[in-house]
Amino acid sequence: MTYPKRLIEVDLPIKRISAHARREKSIRHGHISTLHIWWARRPLAACRAVVCASLWPDPCDDICPPWFINVAKRLMAYWGESHLQKCSTDSYLRFNKITRTPHCLDDAAELRKVMLDFIADFANWDNSTDPAYLAVARTLTVAAHYALEDNSTFALPESISVESLNDAIKDAPRPLLVDPFAGGGAIPLEGLRCGADAFASDLNPVAVLLNKVVLEYIPKYGQRLADEVEKWGQWIKEQAEKELAEFYPKDEDGATPIAYLWARTITCEGPGCGAEVPLMRSLWLAKKGEKSIAVQIVPKPDEKRCDFVIIKKENGNWVYQDKPEMACEKPKFDATVARGSATCPCCGFTTPVKSVRAQLKPRKGGANDARLFAVVTTRPGQKGRFYRLPGDRDLDAIRKSASELERRKAAYTGKHSFVPEEPTPPGIGSGAGRAFSQRNYGIDTFSDLYTPRQLLSMTTLSRLVQDCSERTEVQSILALGVGRVNDLCMSNCRWLPTRLTVAAANGGQNRMPVNLDFAETVAIASASGSWQGQMKWINNVVRGLVAGGITPATVQRVSAQTVPLPTDSVDFFFTDPPYYDAFPYSDLSDFFYIWTKRALSDSAMDYDGGTVPKSEEIVLYNVVHGEDGVVKDHQYFQEQMSTVFSRGRDISKPNSVGTIVFANKTTEGWEALVTGLIDSGWIVTGSWPIQTERPSRQRAQESAALGSSVHIVCRPREDEDGNVIERVGDWRDVLSELPGRIADWLPRLASEGVVGADAIFACLGPALEIFSRYSSVEKASGEVVPLREYLEQIWAEVARQALNMIFEGANASGFEEDARLTAMWLWTLRTEANGNGADNEKATSLPGYTLEYDAARKIAQGLGCHLENLTHLVEVKGDKAMLLSAESRARYLFGKEDVRATTKRCKKKDGPVQQDLFSLLGVPDEEETVAERAELERPPAGKTALDQLHQAMLLFTAGRGAALKRFLVDDGIGTNPQFWTLAQALSALYPSHTNEKRWVDGVLARKKGLGF
Ligand SMILES: C[S@@+](CC[C@H](N)C(=O)[O-])C[C@H]1O[C@@H](n2cnc3c(N)ncnc32)[C@H](O)[C@@H]1O
Ligand SMILES: [Zn+2]
Repeated sequence: MTYPKRLIEVDLPIKRISAHARREKSIRHGHISTLHIWWARRPLAACRAVVCASLWPDPCDDICPPWFINVAKRLMAYWGESHLQKCSTDSYLRFNKITRTPHCLDDAAELRKVMLDFIADFANWDNSTDPAYLAVARTLTVAAHYALEDNSTFALPESISVESLNDAIKDAPRPLLVDPFAGGGAIPLEGLRCGADAFASDLNPVAVLLNKVVLEYIPKYGQRLADEVEKWGQWIKEQAEKELAEFYPKDEDGATPIAYLWARTITCEGPGCGAEVPLMRSLWLAKKGEKSIAVQIVPKPDEKRCDFVIIKKENGNWVYQDKPEMACEKPKFDATVARGSATCPCCGFTTPVKSVRAQLKPRKGGANDARLFAVVTTRPGQKGRFYRLPGDRDLDAIRKSASELERRKAAYTGKHSFVPEEPTPPGIGSGAGRAFSQRNYGIDTFSDLYTPRQLLSMTTLSRLVQDCSERTEVQSILALGVGRVNDLCMSNCRWLPTRLTVAAANGGQNRMPVNLDFAETVAIASASGSWQGQMKWINNVVRGLVAGGITPATVQRVSAQTVPLPTDSVDFFFTDPPYYDAFPYSDLSDFFYIWTKRALSDSAMDYDGGTVPKSEEIVLYNVVHGEDGVVKDHQYFQEQMSTVFSRGRDISKPNSVGTIVFANKTTEGWEALVTGLIDSGWIVTGSWPIQTERPSRQRAQESAALGSSVHIVCRPREDEDGNVIERVGDWRDVLSELPGRIADWLPRLASEGVVGADAIFACLGPALEIFSRYSSVEKASGEVVPLREYLEQIWAEVARQALNMIFEGANASGFEEDARLTAMWLWTLRTEANGNGADNEKATSLPGYTLEYDAARKIAQGLGCHLENLTHLVEVKGDKAMLLSAESRARYLFGKEDVRATTKRCKKKDGPVQQDLFSLLGVPDEEETVAERAELERPPAGKTALDQLHQAMLLFTAGRGAALKRFLVDDGIGTNPQFWTLAQALSALYPSHTNEKRWVDGVLARKKGLGF
């Protein structure tokens, strides 16, 4: 049985959607990401576009119901006529044309294009609550559902308006979207927004809480809930002030402390020293040019301790804050800790990291007895931040808060321990668990992460949430406020001297760091980390969601392997599965769950456990993770994903569509997901990379990290009755179809700005379509071809075709293997950001270009290169492989003596770059050798065109123009056209900010002058 294709199976404006997705990253006001942390949230823009394009059929499809086409035509015509002013410049022309020539939409291809334009514009965050966009999108979704469900017609109102559309779809049946890895809820939220029903589930109680708030409570109770949350938020603020004010005393001059700066301490292990060493990574308080302020450490070796003074910049000089007439002649800004080792200000001895940890361990991390070294304040009527040393009032209040905590602990009779005594993540294994190092410092329970006063604030806030109102919905949202405060109220928060604020402990990172110095915020102040400030963010989101006017979804806490929905009941299976080993979700969320569970009842959390459940979580740890004693390795990940996809296919209707987000960065992670998907009976029918990260130069030089998430579109491989179709494919047929498919895709991706690793991964989708039509693919011998083998073929084919694109016209196979590999390697690392660096940007010297070893191996294989023969070009270390830069190859290319000659001369001639090269090579400074070297001397030409090009580049940068000329002209290197083709290709491939890019361009610039 065939079904009409959906838009996403034929086209998607990925460039425009990507731009909206990237822009959304910087939008904070009212965005659900500010409700509470969830790690690696999908941008709503991408989700919204994918929902529409997956649910709406393609009008060009031969079997697309004509009446649906008619509905789409009328709606798009209405858009052009009534909402032209809302169109982006990219869409304006086409919609404007409709107003002049309405019949243009009779052309199905034109209709498809305007629908895609509409989707691209609707992806814009600014349009996400526009009633007109919402009404048209939702009507199309409902109409599509009628069309696909039973071919029954959906009638548009006579006269189209936002009101009449909303009225027409009010009670209409809607398609059901299911996301069993709902996380922060982006996908189901956009499903609802676009007019679908949604079922959202996740295993994690914190994620489920978020989903309940966003998808259930706010849609159900709307403005009333928003008002109540504001009211009770204010009540908590007032109560907390009453309860906590005495522990955060104001200064006698009226200033209000907003942050306390602490350093953990150790005892110096230097011979005979034994001084207390404050562990400080920075002495800056304010790093603001002429308004800078810092602390200075005053060593008191006799007293075995240090004191502090504050200095400030005044009229260009450093002076003591308390005695501005006195200059501080030699201010020091050196940290006392570097990489965990601590240097004593009294004796200069460095206590190694191992001993630092050994000292902190019995003191449970040492937050409890850390040294307070500065207090940040604000002053009424004055702008800015002020800094002072701590005084007795501060220390008294701190002592008082500790005894108050003890008093409350003793009086407490509730269900959980008063302070969170749950265990911190063990931080073991080579997988996701490596994100946690708390146990190395003796921070074995969560309460060890906090100072007593922080515990007092956190326990007060969570209790007040419990006290405030009977209603679960209100409390749930307030509990998110406790979570937001928590991220700014642990001993992992840092003071940011450039921004004069406190950084969140986690802030969405995929790890939870340990910081040896830390900033303590004040929950009842009005600065960062305050309850009031955090509730402001939350209230904004709630109001925004109310404005979106969405209907409620069903939310459940259940594992994705066992989603409890009937067979053949789902229209759209859209999910964003765990990213292999990249995010240790359950352990990260434990840092928050320990408070939400204290603020809410078990029933509100839909869970009653010590920490977040781990056993069924799908993630790579490579050790036992969870109570079941199961080792979560690659095989576990693949098997569990396969179970989830099987379950997903089972609950999906035969004519349904699936979209799976692949955001993992490793080939291994990819293979596990794809294998799971195909083994469980899905056919891949499309794939779209959507760039969600800003391209970064960093990536380009360090590794081929994916900047985009690839959306794999798939369909159940089922007959009309929902039975899986068993079909055996012939390996030869599959292989013969592959090159054509890649040839269709690569240039198209390039035209959309998708290059490098992003393009390789984006080609996997179309290539997999060929393979996944079959339940198994067999060779002539009857041997079954594993997916892994096909994936190798895909990489190889992409590498071959990409190489042809790189060498435009020249026969790529004519190049030696080192040149082919270099070109393809650099291409793989390309991001949009590489190409257009500013001219005046400083060039960077790089040891090389790193790829994941497995990716490098696959590429090499595809190009017929043997990494083991190329050790002078590629260095393999563990699971990484580095393509050596020309600089790093200098010794190989010149031989040691020659290197000395080359680099020495350049050092004299012009400056820093060459000097870098010189020191990089570690060649001793021997003036005599240099003097003896003749200017014309040059190395014997290397064996391959790449070696020769690298030699020419090094001669160029050494300023040895005459030698370069001889090398190219007399030695005949420049007469080989391949030399120049390679130079041209590499000039386009080296990242713009690298030395090599400059040097190869320098060589190319000589070409004409030398008569080539
Ligand atoms: C990549 S995240 C989803 C992020 C989400 N799309 C968003 O925008 O916030 C993957 C989610 O899978 C959840 N998860 C992991 N194993 C699970 C399982 N076995 N069943 C259900 N959810 C699971 C994690 O808790 C996490 O929320
Ligand atoms: Zn010392």
